[in-house]
Amino acid sequence: MAFRGNLLVVLVLAASAIATGKSARLELVPAAPGASMAERAMDDRHRHTYITQKIASGRGGSRRVAAEVGASAVSLPVSSGAYAGTGQYFVKFLVGTPAQEFALVADTGSDLTWVKCNGAGGATPPGRVFRPADSKSWAPISCSSDTCKLDVPFSLANCSAPTSPCDYDYRYKEGSAGARGVVGTDSATIALPGGKMVQMQDVVLGCSSTHDGQSFQAADGVISLGNSKISFASRAAARYGGSFSYCLVDHLAPRDATGYLAFGPGPAPKDSTPAAQTQLLLDPKMPFYGVKVEAIHVAGKALDIPAEVWDAMKNGGTILDSGTTLTVLATPAYKAVVAALSTHLAGVPTVAFPPFEHCYNWTARRPGAPEIPKLAVQFAGSARLEPPAKSYVIDVKPGVKCIGVQEGESPGLSVIGNILQQEHLWEFDLKNRLVRFKQSTCTR
Ligand SMILES: *[C@@H]1O[C@H](CO)[C@@H](O)[C@H](O)[C@H]1NC(C)=O
Ligand SMILES: *[C@@H]1O[C@H](CO)[C@@H](O)[C@H](O)[C@H]1NC(C)=O
Repeated sequence: MAFRGNLLVVLVLAASAIATGKSARLELVPAAPGASMAERAMDDRHRHTYITQKIASGRGGSRRVAAEVGASAVSLPVSSGAYAGTGQYFVKFLVGTPAQEFALVADTGSDLTWVKCNGAGGATPPGRVFRPADSKSWAPISCSSDTCKLDVPFSLANCSAPTSPCDYDYRYKEGSAGARGVVGTDSATIALPGGKMVQMQDVVLGCSSTHDGQSFQAADGVISLGNSKISFASRAAARYGGSFSYCLVDHLAPRDATGYLAFGPGPAPKDSTPAAQTQLLLDPKMPFYGVKVEAIHVAGKALDIPAEVWDAMKNGGTILDSGTTLTVLATPAYKAVVAALSTHLAGVPTVAFPPFEHCYNWTARRPGAPEIPKLAVQFAGSARLEPPAKSYVIDVKPGVKCIGVQEGESPGLSVIGNILQQEHLWEFDLKNRLVRFKQSTCTR
């Protein structure tokens, strides 16, 4: 079976929500086949570097870092595969009046929603672009506004006249193209099933006149699902009951399988299994969703992992990230997990499949050979994530499975990627600073 790449998210409201106006729901649809698992692993590494740098710069104060880097702005997500679009989820997003349509990467690690744009100045990027001049509802934000000064990440410190536009410059690293543009507000349109449209006013939107072309071949930009004043998720959640949720279908699911992204309370679930819940650890300077891991169990046994690995105060800690494919574990956790899993799978013939360290020829596996042991992630508050085996011993090509976690530096951040999150419903209750999750097939 060929690997599926990107999943396309289409904004759709649940039928029950149309009547109440209390929730909005987006459908997730598998899109075109994408890159190999090895390429995704590489993308994830770049993204991990970006997140780590962003957290480091946030701890030092991003404005100060911006000043130190000199002139323009600081590092951000854009180049080097941080957004290559492989193994990520896309949202169909309509913006402007009349609406212009885009496919955006759904990113819990991002605070600013932006689209490729033909705004004043920079050259028009190839492909689909937003034309602010054609939108009656587009309103630029000035560089002297509080939104620009306080909330827009990596806005340029340069504000020569108070009414000048609010410029931003996202760079992954020195010398990369990054994404530059101006910030404004516009209305976003959500498509209801049956074709009815609902508008959200004053969505903060970056209009990128330049961007790193390689990272954005598939996507037209990014929809911010991070925790920040200006993120789309925060704004939509504020309108729809304080929370948003998503359910990711198996990344290998057939093309017609759909997951969803929803704002507000969803329709009552068919089964009554209560969701597990744990605290969201939010940092006002960071869009990321921190969670407190207490232990990882393999085959029912808690692994021996030092507590510092899970301690954000000691440069460890864990975030949930929709934009990372493969889970990254800081060295001691990584080593403990692969040792436990590979010990259990010792009877299965191995095969080389870099960059993965432990891969198995599943075709050559003899009847009666060991099964993949159960893995569970224990969060604070007795919340336990028990992903299906295919979410951590993953199919990398027909007949070959690999232990699908990556090693991160130590001390360092661990990231729960979207494969480990698949086939679960995740509700980010921003109002109460909780995340709830439960197993789900993501069908409605
Ligand atoms: C700041 O703005 C001035 C006037 O628009 C411009 O000449 C200058 O190049 C800008 N500096 C930076 C670092 O963008
Ligand atoms: C797996 O084992 C089978 C049977 O021994 C063999 O034919 C096949 O080539 C192996 N696959 C890989 C990827 O090594």
